[in-house]
Amino acid sequence: MQNFILYLSYLIGSITFIVGLKMLSHPETARKGNLVAAVGMTIAIIATIFFYTDSDGNHLSNYIWIFVGLIIGSVLGVLMAKKVQMTAMPQMVSLFNGMGGACAAIISIIEIKHLIHHGGEPSSLILLTILLGLVIGTISFFGSMIAFGKLNGNIKDKTLPAQQVINLGLLAIIIALIIVIIGGFTGIALITLFWCLLIISALYGVLFVMPIGGADMPVVISLLNSFTGVAAACGGFLYDNPVMLTGGILVGSAGTILTILMCNAMNRSLVNVIVGAFGGNKSGASSGDSAAGGAYKEISLSDSAVLMAYSKKVVIVPGYGLAVAQAQHTCHELEKILEEKGVEVCYAIHPVAGRMPGHMNVLLAEADVSYDKLKEMEEINPEFSQTDVVLILGANDVVNPAAKSDPASPIYGMPILEVENAHHVIVNKRSMKPGYAGIENALFFQPKTSMLFGDAKKVLQDLVSELKNM
Ligand code: TAP
Repeated sequence: MQNFILYLSYLIGSITFIVGLKMLSHPETARKGNLVAAVGMTIAIIATIFFYTDSDGNHLSNYIWIFVGLIIGSVLGVLMAKKVQMTAMPQMVSLFNGMGGACAAIISIIEIKHLIHHGGEPSSLILLTILLGLVIGTISFFGSMIAFGKLNGNIKDKTLPAQQVINLGLLAIIIALIIVIIGGFTGIALITLFWCLLIISALYGVLFVMPIGGADMPVVISLLNSFTGVAAACGGFLYDNPVMLTGGILVGSAGTILTILMCNAMNRSLVNVIVGAFGGNKSGASSGDSAAGGAYKEISLSDSAVLMAYSKKVVIVPGYGLAVAQAQHTCHELEKILEEKGVEVCYAIHPVAGRMPGHMNVLLAEADVSYDKLKEMEEINPEFSQTDVVLILGANDVVNPAAKSDPASPIYGMPILEVENAHHVIVNKRSMKPGYAGIENALFFQPKTSMLFGDAKKVLQDLVSELKNM
């Protein structure tokens, strides 16, 4: 009976993960999807605590440790989730992901000790699973901690001479050690090689993330996330635990798909990410390496308000600057006022606008912007030619035409929002400084573009009052 309840709750847990993940794919259902999966996870955890028995029929006994850990973890998790700023979300994802990797590695450490204490010849498959859990979990933990430090500004990008060769060398040593260990070591020799494997995996985790530039970091975080999923799946396989296996596989595959999508959206190759040779600090690149430049023209607040009020269609392009200025609510207000004046308004969402996947969707959802007003790049690009005004709010790289026209540009090949096809383009930012890629933007110097300088929130507030007075 106990086994029936346990496996039933694992089945419920696995189904809720799949349903929850599906619901996460749309902003309207995402919150509920998160809750559904969390409820499934809680059921699976509680069932394991009270109904799990080992091969000798023993229940878990260390309840005090388990519940103290659960309470501390839950309180910390809730506090951190409530306190975190939207712009600091990538760090937080990285930190939490690292914890998952550490858990997977700890499972391997515990299980190798069990194997040694129980003596006998362990099966190669079990040993391989333990070693993979250790290697992938350790790389994920150390990589995520470095990513956290870099995004938080505590660690600077650092590239060693011959970094790629060192990284590939470490990978080769890791593979060789796994083969040697499975080849038939026992006792003290096994445990010594096991610790060597852990140390080299930790080193690889650090060196793999160290040279990667801040702008490319979300891709690496997503990749590390998929590593954690695979490491957790190894744990599920070891414990013959179907819910852990399902959860691990889902995280692993979702992380991999997200990594590929982000690479495509930024025109990056996944192989470069894996060998740690990816990007470098593009944010530090020179701003003068573009053929752009020349004269730009400014537009006043009142002219901008008039231009938009007498338009048939206005498309708003949100970017990182809108998030920094926390101007999403004022932006929604502007949208409502324009609509009251009969203007059709929608938002053009670039897949890597902001600093993490879905950044703009979450930001605008927070301000109650209707989901059907958010248009993805493929959908909105053909509509720009029938758009009277594009209002760009703190976006830069994602509207840079150099991505299409300048093969020498570091963002060449990245799909962009083709705003230059609209009749008028108003760009709001604080200065002529470049965006994250560190390159100039020829769009700002085109005849149909006008610059509206200022902090996005202040500018939007002033635009709203201008429109109210019209
Ligand atoms: P960016 O190219 O970084 O441009 C943001 C612009 O906002 C800056 O040029 C800045 O100009 C302006 N800004 C900053 N604070 C502002 C404020 N308070 N008010 C008004 N404007 C402000 O942003 P983007 O166009 O959203 O592009 C995203 C970049 O991040 C891309 O290069 C992308 O590859 C990279 N990236 C994104 C992701 C994901 S998944 N989202 C992942 C990795 C990398 P001023 O300083 O002149 O104001």
